[in-house]
Amino acid sequence: MRHDKLFLWFLANPSAPRYVGQLRLVGAGKGVSLQYGAAWLREGFALSEDLPLVDTEQLPRWKGMAVGAVDDARPDRWGERVIQYIDKPARLSLMEYLFYAGDERFGALGVSTSAEAYLPRPRSALPRLAQAQQLSEIVRKVSARDPVSDIERKLLATGGSFGGAKPKALIEIGAEQWIIKFFNNEPIDVPLVEHASMTLAGLAGITVAQTQVVPLVGEHALAVRRFDRDGTTRIHGISAGTALRAQAVATLEPELGYPGLAQLLRRAGVAEGGLNLLDMQELFRRMVFNILIDNTDDHEKNHTLLVVAPHRQGKYRLAPAYDVLTTNSGQGYQEFIVGTDQRDSTLANAMSQCELFGYTPAQAAAQVLRVIQVVNGWRAHFAACGVSAADLASLAERIDGEQLLGQRQNFNAADYANPKRQRRRSPFAP
Ligand SMILES: Nc1ncnc2c1ncn2[C@@H]1O[C@H](COP(=O)(O)OP(=O)(O)OP(=O)(O)O)[C@@H](O)[C@H]1O
Ligand SMILES: [Mg+2]
Repeated sequence: MRHDKLFLWFLANPSAPRYVGQLRLVGAGKGVSLQYGAAWLREGFALSEDLPLVDTEQLPRWKGMAVGAVDDARPDRWGERVIQYIDKPARLSLMEYLFYAGDERFGALGVSTSAEAYLPRPRSALPRLAQAQQLSEIVRKVSARDPVSDIERKLLATGGSFGGAKPKALIEIGAEQWIIKFFNNEPIDVPLVEHASMTLAGLAGITVAQTQVVPLVGEHALAVRRFDRDGTTRIHGISAGTALRAQAVATLEPELGYPGLAQLLRRAGVAEGGLNLLDMQELFRRMVFNILIDNTDDHEKNHTLLVVAPHRQGKYRLAPAYDVLTTNSGQGYQEFIVGTDQRDSTLANAMSQCELFGYTPAQAAAQVLRVIQVVNGWRAHFAACGVSAADLASLAERIDGEQLLGQRQNFNAADYANPKRQRRRSPFAP
């Protein structure tokens, strides 16, 4: 395949695909543009805020990316590798990656070779849970660039290029799709630690994607239930990076962080029933939890907004949390901006802009205490999840290391109870 043009479809109801518009390779092959079709301009919605319903070719504003929400329809490092290895297209541009990501990609968008009919990359049935062992061996071969047979190729072909950097695939459990993330020779049992971290986050008032440990020969894998599927319905979603870039001035470095995302939810979240406020406040707890559990890998693709009411102004809900685990890096800074001290992994930094998350300082401090209390119980919780004594000892060096334990012990909510209010002087005062 060597198409410089492809066609974007919307698959919320996959039995009735709707044509969105034409994708074109631009910028010397370094970007992908979108031109909405006439019917979508009449009846569709803006896929992201930087893709308004206008009758013109919309060009990517950042190098090496597809426009707006289209960028979330392409694979990430792992998927690219699978495509290079399994599909072996004649050329490797964003177009091939968009096409070969296939029908079960993240969200509700699909890529077709035709504007008249939805013709995606041919798909085969997803593997079932009972085939997880076999799937892990195929994934290992792809990681090592060892040869795979045609049957093996088929098993990985449909769900093998899902997003993220680590080895994974899609599988079916019951009638539902789950992402299965495999052990990748890390020094600790990462799939088990991810399950333990995610379920611990759940205890701290964080909505998490459902996880399930999959025992394999000599190792574990982690299955994560897809939140962008509801039965046969597909839910359009965009990454935090796409949402924040959409409101940024092109060519300027976008501000990628929690306070900015909270404000975006305030503006474009679902105001009815105060759901946007609940999402903003939950985001605050996620940020605090990530700091205290040493999940420093909280980058722009590790937060998703689900587009629940595409035709309405308030449309975004925070998707359940995923990819939340102790990274054991101890690097001392997050990937996402936390507060006035930028990415520093400190509770003082988390508190510094708590009002942007819809909390008074006293309320925010109470939430910090709540998360601290849950994280204080991490060891018992992880042990109950089956994390080995050796792994607990390794994780304790971070979670109970001087830096993070010290912060849990020294946080004093009273410091925020009665913030000394700076009396605002009227600019008109003499
Ligand atoms: N439960 C889920 N439902 C739907 N999409 C999901 C879910 N979990 C993850 N995703 C999507 O898949 C991508 C990869 O998942 P995840 O972040 O868990 O993988 P990873 O390889 O560990 O990522 P990273 O590259 O951050 O290390 C996410 O960025 C998100 O777009
Ligand atoms: Mg991730």
